[in-house]
Amino acid sequence: MSKLLVSTTVNGDPQQFLCDPDTTLLDALREEMGLTGSKEGCGSGDCGACTVVLDGEMVCSCLVLAPEAEGRQIATIEGVAEGSQLHPVQRKFLEHGALQCGFCTPGFIMASKALLDRNPNPSESEVRYWLAGNLCRCTGYDKIVRAVMDAAAELRQDRRTAA
Ligand code: FES
Ligand code: FES
Repeated sequence: MSKLLVSTTVNGDPQQFLCDPDTTLLDALREEMGLTGSKEGCGSGDCGACTVVLDGEMVCSCLVLAPEAEGRQIATIEGVAEGSQLHPVQRKFLEHGALQCGFCTPGFIMASKALLDRNPNPSESEVRYWLAGNLCRCTGYDKIVRAVMDAAAELRQDRRTAA
């Protein structure tokens, strides 16, 4: 099978890689670009562990073909922190103990940040609904929901302080 050259942007940085036409974006991120934060749980769009943001839309990267990333903007878990400064969602996950094995955590962080970028004041029901596509086998979800609600409150406070 002849390889395709894909030029894309990941977390603001230009990236080029060669891949087979049927390579998934998840495999390209992990194996061609060395970005192993996105995880493969199910490989079939059911668990959300592979969640990334593609041109502003949350997607399961296991369901996207790598050549579809041509010319597009990808945001992954590796781009969420600013240097050593964790994003409030990441910090609140740690403070609330919202992870155990951590396998699902990158997907939850990406989905939670995408929610708060759109809706800075979600209700608990909205958080639970939004995160319904992300599965966790360990935490029971309450700590995750509390972490997201707390991160939302902190982000709103930061915006008020900056205004
Ligand atoms: S690995 Fe992509 S949704 Fe589960
Ligand atoms: S913390 Fe283990 S799967 Fe979520």
